[in-house]
Amino acid sequence: MRQGRYLLLDLADLRDKIARRSDPLRPPRRLILDIGGGNFEWIGARTLELLTTVAGLKPYDSVLEVGCGVGQIAIPLARYMDGTGRYEAFDIVEPFVRWCREHITPRFPNFHFQHADLYNTTYNRHGRTLARNYTFPFPASTFDLVYLTSVFTHMLPEDMTHYLHEIARVLKQGGRSLITFFLLNPESTMAVEAGKTSPAFPNAFDQYRTFLKDDPEAAIAYSEVFVRELYGSCGLEIVEPIHYGSWCGRTKCLGEHDFIVATKP
Ligand SMILES: C[S@@+](CC[C@H](N)C(=O)[O-])C[C@H]1O[C@@H](n2cnc3c(N)ncnc32)[C@H](O)[C@@H]1O
Repeated sequence: MRQGRYLLLDLADLRDKIARRSDPLRPPRRLILDIGGGNFEWIGARTLELLTTVAGLKPYDSVLEVGCGVGQIAIPLARYMDGTGRYEAFDIVEPFVRWCREHITPRFPNFHFQHADLYNTTYNRHGRTLARNYTFPFPASTFDLVYLTSVFTHMLPEDMTHYLHEIARVLKQGGRSLITFFLLNPESTMAVEAGKTSPAFPNAFDQYRTFLKDDPEAAIAYSEVFVRELYGSCGLEIVEPIHYGSWCGRTKCLGEHDFIVATKP
């Protein structure tokens, strides 16, 4: 099924190439499908807008993106940053990282991408290490901004907990983070239980719910209380209010996911 879809997408890429319509900073369609599909350019531009307006990103900042995928946000960000800014990223899917290295870094040498071979039930079933045992490859107090979009929505609690501690470690004092979630609070839980959310989260555990039983990292929603306590235990201060998303039927949202901006005081 997926192979057939890949074939059609590869044919569309080939058609663009023959017609000389290919954009060297647009990944192959099959890689865009693998990060979840969607409107690649629009999501990138919209996320950049949120990073600048809500998380205070400046063109000269030192930035870490965890789970960069195939550069959806890195590409517009590279056009926004000036030569003094620095961007580092890692992801667990080798072809994503390879594409970013081959296409983004040569054009924007201050943009660096690393592969981390970590296990994930959806993205890297053959990964050799658990995310909970992975130390980010950067010294403490390196970054002005760390952001993760649609990454903690694919990670189990022990891994997410470890990552948030790592994020707090690599942030400079006064640094900020922007992270997206599916947060379970009374309003969203009611929508989940009524089957009115996208994704659905039918499998309930202590602090979280999953979309698929046999592939838990396909999509995960977390208790907001649990997440708030976790931020506190990592020494990160949430900048209120939390920005709730439209995934559970809300309207007038800044995006589909919920997101939290926090600072390291
Ligand atoms: C839905 S995609 C989002 C990609 C990118 N953040 C974006 O918004 O375009 C989820 C990404 O998280 C990455 N990921 C999953 N677990 C990870 C982990 N433990 N560390 C780093 N990245 C991870 C996946 O490989 C995938 O690229």
